[in-house]
Order: sequence, then C-alpha cells, then structure tokens
Amino acid sequence: MSDKRILRGDLLDFVQDPGFAPPHEAQGVRFRSDHLVLIERGRIDSVQSASQPLPPAWENVPVADHRGRLILPGFIDTHVHCPQLDVIASFGTELLDWLNTYTFPAEQRYADPEVSRQGAARFLHALWAHGTTSAVVFPTVHKTSAQALFEQASQVQMRLITGKVLMNRHAPDGLRDDVAQAERDCVDLIAQWHGKQRQAFAVTVRFAVTSTPEQLAMAGALCASHAGTYMQTHVAESRAEVQWVSELFPTARSYLDVYDRDGLIGPRAVLAHGIWLDERDRAVLRERGAQIAHSPSSNLFLGSGLFDWAQAQGDGVNVSLASDVGGGTSLCLLRNMAEAYKIQALQGTRLTAWKALYTATLGAASHLGLSQEIGRIEPGCMADLAVWRWAVGPVAEHRDALARDVLHERVFAWMTLADERNLVSTWVAGQPVYMASSSEVSAA
Ligand code: GUN
Ligand code: ZN
Repeated sequence: MSDKRILRGDLLDFVQDPGFAPPHEAQGVRFRSDHLVLIERGRIDSVQSASQPLPPAWENVPVADHRGRLILPGFIDTHVHCPQLDVIASFGTELLDWLNTYTFPAEQRYADPEVSRQGAARFLHALWAHGTTSAVVFPTVHKTSAQALFEQASQVQMRLITGKVLMNRHAPDGLRDDVAQAERDCVDLIAQWHGKQRQAFAVTVRFAVTSTPEQLAMAGALCASHAGTYMQTHVAESRAEVQWVSELFPTARSYLDVYDRDGLIGPRAVLAHGIWLDERDRAVLRERGAQIAHSPSSNLFLGSGLFDWAQAQGDGVNVSLASDVGGGTSLCLLRNMAEAYKIQALQGTRLTAWKALYTATLGAASHLGLSQEIGRIEPGCMADLAVWRWAVGPVAEHRDALARDVLHERVFAWMTLADERNLVSTWVAGQPVYMASSSEVSAA
C-alpha cells in the first residue's frame, strides 16, 4: 500500500506530433480534465476520471489533490551543461569568446571530486525545480563529473543520459584529455552505469574544434562497439565556429560530415543547435534518425542565429527542445518555448503551444527511443510528472481568466507567461523531488 499514490488534476499530454498545423486543426493533443493518475512502484498504473469510483485496492491510497492545476509529463531537456550554472547570464560575448572567457574556467574547477559532487546536486535539484525530470547532460572532461551525475540521478531513479566530455585540443590546461585515457574512462563509465536503472551513457564529443581526428575516430569506435549508447555534441551553432571547423577539417564536406564520416551520427545522436546546416546535412540527419536539440534562449543570448524549425521539420529532421544552460538563460523549458515561438515568428512560422509542449515531452522521448518510459501520462510509463499553476501574478491571472473557454488560447498564454514560479511539485519515479514552498496554498 505504501508505495501507491494518486495525483489529481487536469492532465495534458500528447499521443502524436501535432506538427505546425494551426491550433484548431492539430492532432494528438490529449487534455483530460479532473482525472486521477494512479501510481504504484514508480510507474503509472492507470488513469481515470475523478468522477469514477476507485478500484477497491486503491480506496485508501493518499491523494495529492491538485484540482484546478495542470499535470504534465516532466519535461525532457535534451541539451544542458551541469557546470554552467556557474556562468549562466554572463555578459557580452559570442560563442567562442564565451567559452574561453567564462565557461572553460568554470569547468576547470570540476577536476575536484567535491566540486563535481556539489555541482551535480545543485544542478539536478535545479532541473527538478524547473519541472524537468529527464535530461541529456554535458558534465566536464573529468570522469568524476560524470560519475557524480550518475550517482545522484540513480539515487532517485531519474532518467539521465550523460558521459565524460571528450576534448583533447583547443582548450586550456586541466581541460584536455588524451585519446587513450579518455577511452578507458568511457569504457569504465559504460561498464558501471550504462543501462543501470535509468542511467544511459552518451559518448560526449564537445565539438569538432576540441577533438583531434584521432579522438573523433575513437569516439565513433566507442559508439559502434557499445550498442545502445547515445552520442551528444554541438554542431553548426555560430558562423565563426563553422568557419573554424572548415579550416580544421578541410576534407570534410561540411561540419556535420566531420562527425558522420566517423560513424557518430546514428539514431541516438543528439546534436545541439544545427542552425547553419545545409540541405544535404538535413538529409543525413533524417536518414540516420538523429535529432537536433534546438536551444532557443542560448541561440538568442549568444547571438548565434535563428534556427529554422519548420524547414527542419519539412526535411524530416527530428527536433527536440533544450535549455543549453549556461549559454541558455533559463532551465525552464516553458521560457525556452516562449523564445522558440519568437524565433519562428521572425521567420514567418507560428509555433503552437501544442507543438512546443509535445516536443518537450513525447517528441523528445520518441527521438531518444524512450517513449515507452517517459513523455506520456500512460499506464506502464514511469511516473515522472510536474504539477503547474495556470497563472501566477495579476497579469497572468487576468489573461488566464479571459482565456478559459478556448483550450489552446489558455495553454498558449500559460506557456508564454509561466515560468518556474508556476511549478507546484515535480515527481520522479512516483516520488516528490521538488515541492514549492507555497504548494499547499489553494489552487489557481
Ligand atoms: N560549443 C562547444 N561547447 C559549447 C558549450 O559549452 N555551449 C555551447 N552553447 N556551445 C558549445
Ligand atoms: Zn551546449
């Protein structure tokens, strides 16, 4: 009995990709007003209307009553840097300067296992405090930084995908590995963590600039010899970066090709940004089933460029949504959705709340091959959930009251105006990992 619990509220999730259809034509949206989520042993056992009687075995189970609040699958952040909470909101640079000025010095400190442990704890708690329950994470070049994330995520059975960062050139002292040692570290981490509980290893190439051809070949060999591992990296983020990569790899057809020719682009590849790709690159991504982790707040903050999401979708490329903190300015995926809307608006496309929310839940889950586990409020899936208030503060409350009769209007206003202050609680594997201090006050 004690591992059973019930959440009550308005459930919003998706059963298919709504695409870029206008709100009223979109398919795949599932809104279940005043429903119960019955949870046992970390998984969703069943979902039913609150007006139906409970099955006898559930009659005395405690109910977390969130009537009048939204319950969504926990968000999936497909690209975020643990150590960069130290440099979020740093002034005045574009990508390559930003790395040298702010990021690399912050990452150097993670050589210390205690810094890595404290950083992992701070970071995971911060994800939960923003409604994110699964993530694809960059730690640092240090094995201990990946180890700390795996250890702490596994303690709460959180779905986490990470791996020690590979970088052996164009980085300062203390942040470069060598090919042989890096390979040993990866093999150790795979043996210890990959497939253990909900942990998965990602071969983590920082970007083409910071790995020699020998290291990229080693990374490709690791992917080939360890089935089921992911691969994460950055690609085509800023124009200066693309230019540098073309000078470093003169025989590659494109930036993406640097990775593809070493076998790094497969269905489990997660590539951040992809702003400056061409049509052939998009065809390669489609054929391989790889995904772009679109990182709106980062692309705007660093001035990297405007990702053309509709074009990527039209060319059949999988796209997920990411905070890319600390280039990104918020771990809150709702805020990143609001920024994504503006990026598409500048290019003549209107991003619906359905498409944005689908992308941060079932879309990401599907592209990661995890839709049986996360991204949906469905029997058999893990109970990774977030409870949200519709509105906080006078402006949002006023807007919400006016929008109540039209679901997309209401949800879009929520997506655009809400942030982590709207979050009531976050649940991982059926356990609360975050509770807002005001979560017991009455619903809004
Ligand atoms: N490219 C290589 N490293 C990084 C990083 O840490 N952040 C971003 N946004 N881009 C990168
Ligand atoms: Zn990044």
